[in-house]
Amino acid sequence: MEDRQVLVLYGSQTGTAHDVADRVTREAKRRHFATRVLSMDDYNVTSLIQERLVIFVCSTTGQGDPPDNMRMFWKFLLRRDLPPTSLSGLKFAVLGLGDSSYQKFNVVGKRLQKRIEQLGGQAIHSLGLADDHHDLGVDAVVTPWLSELWDVLLTMYPLAPGLDVIASDVCPTSKYKVQFLDTTNGPGGQHEVNVSQPQDQGVVISSVNPPSSLCPFHARLISNQRVTHPDHFQDVRLIKLDIAGSGISYSPGDVVMIQPQNSADSVEKFLSILGLDPDKQFQLSQNDPDSPLPPQIPNPCSVRWLATHYLDINSVPRRSFFELLWYHAGGEPDSDAELEKEKLAEFCTPQGQEELYNYCNRVKRNIREVLEDFVKTSAQIPFEYLLDLIPPLQPRAFSIASSPKAHPDQLHVLMAVVRYQTKLHFPRLGVCSNWLANVRLQDGDTANKTRSEPVTTVPIWVKRGTIRFPQDPNIPLVMVGPGTGLAPFRSAIHERCAEGKGDLVLFFGCRSESKDFFCAEEWKHFTHQGLLKLLTAFSRDQEEKIYVQHRIREEGSLVWKMINEQSAYFYIAGNAKSMPDDVKESLRDVISIHGNMTQTEAASYIQQLEKNRRFQVEAWS
Ligand code: 2AM
Repeated sequence: MEDRQVLVLYGSQTGTAHDVADRVTREAKRRHFATRVLSMDDYNVTSLIQERLVIFVCSTTGQGDPPDNMRMFWKFLLRRDLPPTSLSGLKFAVLGLGDSSYQKFNVVGKRLQKRIEQLGGQAIHSLGLADDHHDLGVDAVVTPWLSELWDVLLTMYPLAPGLDVIASDVCPTSKYKVQFLDTTNGPGGQHEVNVSQPQDQGVVISSVNPPSSLCPFHARLISNQRVTHPDHFQDVRLIKLDIAGSGISYSPGDVVMIQPQNSADSVEKFLSILGLDPDKQFQLSQNDPDSPLPPQIPNPCSVRWLATHYLDINSVPRRSFFELLWYHAGGEPDSDAELEKEKLAEFCTPQGQEELYNYCNRVKRNIREVLEDFVKTSAQIPFEYLLDLIPPLQPRAFSIASSPKAHPDQLHVLMAVVRYQTKLHFPRLGVCSNWLANVRLQDGDTANKTRSEPVTTVPIWVKRGTIRFPQDPNIPLVMVGPGTGLAPFRSAIHERCAEGKGDLVLFFGCRSESKDFFCAEEWKHFTHQGLLKLLTAFSRDQEEKIYVQHRIREEGSLVWKMINEQSAYFYIAGNAKSMPDDVKESLRDVISIHGNMTQTEAASYIQQLEKNRRFQVEAWS
């Protein structure tokens, strides 16, 4: 068995690659491979030289960047001093997860494959290029790719005589074991267990190291202000957090990571579907030597804590959820429980994928609602399997909207509260933005009228963003930030203006001057000081739409002069649909007209700017 060892390494930003890596691991275990699964940055990369067989699962983020949890790994692999034969003993396969609606489709997977081959690794399977933009999601590629992979691997590493692939209808063992604690003080009961609940403490914890995902800073809310008109369809908030004593330092362009909580309402519903007592406490232990305990979960922990802070109960379930749920389904022939099992089985077949997509992804039905639909099955899920079934709640990233120079000891977030309707009866609510919008001030809440959530602090840490502003405050900046795309530019503008420096041009777009022109007073102030030139595009204040790109074309000679004569940097931030490409096109027109170039010459001019980091984009969906 010794050489039947496979290491699964993943780089995952939103959890999809992690989920797929877990699936690879489960399927490998069924084929009796000793299997470990780790994020690339949790793996000691210098040991790679000793590995024999590695399956990489990595996603590509919006701008073609590697996910956060493979950055160090990737940086190490790119080192020039690595000999070209370093990985000659390694057999590997790469499964890339991307989205073909973004420009740099699966570029991280492609680069990883190439680099490992350069270092002597031997690919045992063709590069997998899964596409989240596909109607059936990444599964359309992942399923056939994996099936081919197992054919290859079982030929290379046949099963020992007498062993068979474990049938897919045998329930895999859970990753963790759970022991419920008797917390009553009555006769025979143990004494009460003190569950440590770091996120509920409401105190500001100061640490020597900068806060991180494992040790976030619990920031106090200073204010939570709606910056769009109450009649406007969209609720946008400017949220100010107190970071005094946190050890956090940041610069314009950086990003704050926020670890959200599920709403009390959704937690209550979820626990009641499963018939769980929120106050019950349990001790978690390892059940699989290859699955260490998640360090975020306090031990012992309460059921409520787990459902509030750790389980992503409001996410749309992935296919693996239905596969695992199926094991716990079933009952008497023709019973409701058995009918549920049949339905789950159908969702796991290739033919059932379209129906599953329509049931879940199209309408954004979440895990809690699915459990409600499969109520008989839900009642049969052993508690410890919840940690296998439901992925962990992921932190959300926001461009920081404040400046350390202008707002010392504070960190601001400009955020749209996500709420939309699908065909389902209840509106879909973004977990993080709705939680944040409802976070109460600690003393006398004035900003928030809906006091549905208990007072709490906001767990945060900071990481470098994709956009960088020049160190030299004399370099002019042209910034294009419609909607909440304004956030990083608010940071940069405040930073510059705090030093009395200007040469700033901001193109801002929103629907209406009176409805969603946020921070207008601030821009007025800097404009009067002569530090900022503001150009606005109010798309719906007149018959025909006016967008930022129209204003850029109108102001072509100014833009060209700033870029060409004053070496300005040009930035775009905001929603990733077509806005960044449309703005880029307008810049190409400006360069072509005012710089007297053909469209092709103008395009390569932009490419050159991009190379020199004078053209940068931060887009999000
Ligand atoms: P609209 O909603 O009227 O279409 C912030 O969301 C602003 O960006 C709104 O005024 C919105 O206009 C506008 N917007 C929408 N699509 C855009 C695009 N492709 N390019 C530039 N601005 C856009």
